[in-house]
Amino acid sequence: MMAGGVQAPLRALPRRFGRRDLDPIVESAREATYPAPYPECWYVVGRSIDFGDRPTFVQCAGNQWVVFRDASGQARAVDAYCPHLGANLADGTVQGDCVECPFHGWRIRGDGCVVSQSSEGQDHPGHRTRSWAVQELHGWVLVYHRHADVGAGPAPEPPYRIERVAEIDDGGLLWRGEHDAGLIQMHILEFIENTVDFQHFAAIHGSLRVPWTEIPVPGLRIHHEATWHRDETEKQVCWFNNDAILEFRGKPIPKSGAHAKVRLEGPGSIVRFEFTLAKGGGRVVMYQSHTPVAPLTQHVRFRWFSDPSVPKPLASFIVGNWVSQWRQDHAIWQRKIYRQNPLLTRGDGPIHQLRRWYGQFYPTPASAAPQAAE
Ligand code: FES
Ligand SMILES: [Fe+2]
Repeated sequence: MMAGGVQAPLRALPRRFGRRDLDPIVESAREATYPAPYPECWYVVGRSIDFGDRPTFVQCAGNQWVVFRDASGQARAVDAYCPHLGANLADGTVQGDCVECPFHGWRIRGDGCVVSQSSEGQDHPGHRTRSWAVQELHGWVLVYHRHADVGAGPAPEPPYRIERVAEIDDGGLLWRGEHDAGLIQMHILEFIENTVDFQHFAAIHGSLRVPWTEIPVPGLRIHHEATWHRDETEKQVCWFNNDAILEFRGKPIPKSGAHAKVRLEGPGSIVRFEFTLAKGGGRVVMYQSHTPVAPLTQHVRFRWFSDPSVPKPLASFIVGNWVSQWRQDHAIWQRKIYRQNPLLTRGDGPIHQLRRWYGQFYPTPASAAPQAAE
């Protein structure tokens, strides 16, 4: 009854992918209930193949960056606006290890140092702009958004790097696909908090959907058993485990089980799923990323890999099944608020524990609190 009661009014709403029909007054009231919008962490800024020999403008977590590849092919990020008179460096060109400003020709290296001012032909070693740490992860470029004001010049080393999967690097797992889900009107906290919201699995994720769609498959239900815990050694990591099995008329269907082990790095900006198919059927590794381009707007991307024994269509089926379930969530996230003091019941997961853990990505506990009191 709960599922029907929650879902019925939502079905009448228009599709919400990247919706632009939002009431700005409602949206600012929603935003004020949440913690600050940009926790410190690694964010995906695009696909590796999209950063070539041209500087690219990126808007992320309240920053404007220009991302380019230096002469060695390494991706670099510096503030997008020139330290001279503010031209957008993305309108310039890449020259060797530098991005060259389109206005007066200053050349700025990936570490933020101005190495020449071409109009006078002189070096200006003391002139700098801010640079930002960059990591590439299995086909994505990530930039580390920091809160600390460390000034202009080389970016400090971030407190952690996103863990790589050795089998992707050595070819043991094959790239199988990617999906750009566009812009979702939600706070970044919602995804990670979802992992401890144990009550919503039956209500929102109980019906099987046709993969990649929101069309329910009649008669079939999914039963979920979920757990969450913090990593014991890496403080920026937490884990979500879910065992799902299909049910027909309330009875489990043999061999229909699948296990998902989910590693969340940072405040859920980078999420790695490992789906293990029943009876040694193989493994699919999927990444999901959340990049806040505005306080309540996440750019969500997916890319996935699998054992060679898992055919590409099967990998797509498994990922599509997840994406269908996830769309049920963001229908909720795009219209909800954050309750700082929720009324919880026995069936709820460790929501307060998760929130305390999430606070580590803010400079102070006060800045992790909602912007408006409840
Ligand atoms: S504004 Fe960039 S060189 Fe002058
Ligand atoms: Fe969910």
